[in-house]
Amino acid sequence: MMHIPTFLVSLLPLASAAHLPQAQHIFTNPASPPTTGFKIPTVHESAVQARRILRLERIGTLSTIFPNNDHPNPHHGPPSSVSGTPIGLMDYFADCEPQRGDPTILAINIATSFRNVAAGSNITLSLRWHPPNKQHYSAAAIPRFSLVGYLENIKDEDVVKGLLPACFVKYHPDAAAWLPGNPIHTSHWTRLVVQEVYWIGGFGDRAYIGWIPLEEWQSVTEDEIQSIRLPDEQSGGWGFGMVKEWMGLGGSDNQESWEL
Ligand SMILES: *[C@@H]1O[C@H](CO)[C@@H](O)[C@H](O)[C@H]1NC(C)=O
Repeated sequence: MMHIPTFLVSLLPLASAAHLPQAQHIFTNPASPPTTGFKIPTVHESAVQARRILRLERIGTLSTIFPNNDHPNPHHGPPSSVSGTPIGLMDYFADCEPQRGDPTILAINIATSFRNVAAGSNITLSLRWHPPNKQHYSAAAIPRFSLVGYLENIKDEDVVKGLLPACFVKYHPDAAAWLPGNPIHTSHWTRLVVQEVYWIGGFGDRAYIGWIPLEEWQSVTEDEIQSIRLPDEQSGGWGFGMVKEWMGLGGSDNQESWEL
């Protein structure tokens, strides 16, 4: 049950706007320690948040670059004008090899992202946390990040040992129709070998914005992933009060009245 008085609900958009960070800190961290009273999470704490988002989310954007193409196929191929241009396309991933945090991706050979990879493109997976309660706050305050790297084919024995099909289908039941060996589309198992991590934790005066070193990303433990809760993640008891705090709306005072 939510106990927010009606007059307060109507004030919420106003309150949010009034508590937005100073403009210069929306996309960067302050140069000196912030004066707003928020403790900016450390780089490692940000890595743990990112690894939990990788665990709980399942859809992201794959960005690749179109190869040089002097002789475009007039019917289906990309026009030569897009050579060297990036394209971001929605795709599925799953956190099925959590030891290193390299996301598992089922590559469909005819799909543009994987054609570009086959032609030599590197790849970036961009994803963001979708809080269950989307009503009351600014998406710019919610964490998102990009994993930059390359695709590597997963050996059959590792697919079997890691129970990858079962893991992937748990995240994506519909993908059972295009697992490798299906009669319609040739597909194969790949991992995105993460080489760089770019993180935007939210507003810069209360969240880390910047590169997360690979060692931090890879050293996150299962216990750490299990122990934290993301903004407005219900199962762990994050209520709207915690979202308020995350956004800098002063969540801890009068917490009770904001409990979900
Ligand atoms: C892919 O990334 C590697 C570094 O990880 C770089 O050496 C290589 O040039 C990149 N390839 C392309 C096609 O950009």
